[in-house]
Amino acid sequence: MSKAQETVIWVRPDSATVLIEYGPKNREVGKYFHPDDITAAHQRYIDSRIEESRIESRENSENTPHPGAFQPNKLQHDSQRSLFYREVQVLRAFRGYNGVPGFYRHNDTMLRVFMEYVDEPTIHKLLVESNDSEIAEKMFPVMAKFLDCFGTYCDTHHNRIVQKVNEGRGAPRLKVRSVDEEAVRLSAHLTTILRAYGVNLPASSRAQGKARITSEVEQRTWQPFHRGVTSFVETDRKVADNESFFYHGDFSPQNIFVNGSEGNYAGIRVCDFDKVQLGGRLKDLASALYNIHALPLTERRQRSIMGTVDDYIHGERIGGKNATDLKAAFIAHALYELVRKAGVLTAMSWANIQQFVPHPPPDEDTKDFFILHRVISSLEWFMGYYSKGGDGWKQDVEPSSSKKNFVQEQVGFIQSLFNAGGVTLENILEHQYPEHEGVGN
Ligand SMILES: Nc1ncnc2c1ncn2[C@@H]1O[C@H](COP(=O)(O)OP(=O)(O)O)[C@@H](O)[C@H]1O
Ligand SMILES: [Mg+2]
Repeated sequence: MSKAQETVIWVRPDSATVLIEYGPKNREVGKYFHPDDITAAHQRYIDSRIEESRIESRENSENTPHPGAFQPNKLQHDSQRSLFYREVQVLRAFRGYNGVPGFYRHNDTMLRVFMEYVDEPTIHKLLVESNDSEIAEKMFPVMAKFLDCFGTYCDTHHNRIVQKVNEGRGAPRLKVRSVDEEAVRLSAHLTTILRAYGVNLPASSRAQGKARITSEVEQRTWQPFHRGVTSFVETDRKVADNESFFYHGDFSPQNIFVNGSEGNYAGIRVCDFDKVQLGGRLKDLASALYNIHALPLTERRQRSIMGTVDDYIHGERIGGKNATDLKAAFIAHALYELVRKAGVLTAMSWANIQQFVPHPPPDEDTKDFFILHRVISSLEWFMGYYSKGGDGWKQDVEPSSSKKNFVQEQVGFIQSLFNAGGVTLENILEHQYPEHEGVGN
């Protein structure tokens, strides 16, 4: 056998994905979770990108460490191992189903999993390379349709999948996340956003930057804040009727492969299973549709998203539930997804963000501007649209009053946090970029 050639195709702070070629038609994909592998892959991947492109902007270097600065320790190694096992067990559970890359083998010590190479582009690749300005919207129904197929398989094999994924060493890895754990995660996203873009934080705590909660004011506000977030999570569950469907957890353009003969696009495979969970049946739909390429939101886009949602919930698979209730649940998940996205992107390095959107328009080509214009502005718009009295509710066939009120409360909660922190696009631009002449420019 000739020597295999390895190319790093994707890196993340906790994994690296590698194409391994033994010969022209003999290829496989390896996903590596070992800290040493990841550090090396970051070096190779990011360095090659720096050469080829335009990551000159140094102004953010303080809060965007080189992603290769991954510091392995025992704790991280254990959490790497659990991510690794989750990926392995899900791939095994889906063996024989052609909507997921075939599982080949895994290496326990190296934390590497090997699978079939999918020789078709991801939706992400299509979105990045297309000249069609409508392409993001054209992908809404493509992703929804494929999710419907994937969901049908998951529903049909639910018990077997849950049992298989939870089999073997380690804690149950497929479960409904506890409210506490979810609240801690959501708090982290919200504090990340408030610290990065909040303009009303007391001067002392701003000067201390993004470190710990130290100031007295923050100590006093932490308890009610955390209680608020916990109740937000509880309400989110209630709106989705505490469902415990299998869901992918990162159902988004980078992880979905399409076949595009003659402009007729169809989703064919989905990869990346280290975030699978049990929860609301519309969670994956929200993460698919509120992808970064579909932002910033406009009323037209939101209408197009809701059209896709409408078709999805009227499909054969989802019967027996009030359609307007489902839409309300979807809107709650969408809000959650937008907050999560803002938090995740803010915590990411600019170099890593550019993997997702490699050619941001010139007016967005710093990290802060990019996030402000895409996500923060979308959140703001979304919250206005679905607040009490917002136009969104008139459009979306009046979801039954109880759910609608819950969702409006959810929106109101995030809105009040943002208002108190000064997180509005106008505020931020005025404070951080005083020379900037407002939102439209
Ligand atoms: N089986 C595969 N065949 C072809 N490309 C793949 C395969 N698995 C992953 N990839 C590519 O590598 C990228 C990263 O893999 P993924 O499992 O999604 O890792 P991450 O958890 O870092 O997102 C994907 O977005 C896709 O472009
Ligand atoms: Mg992925």
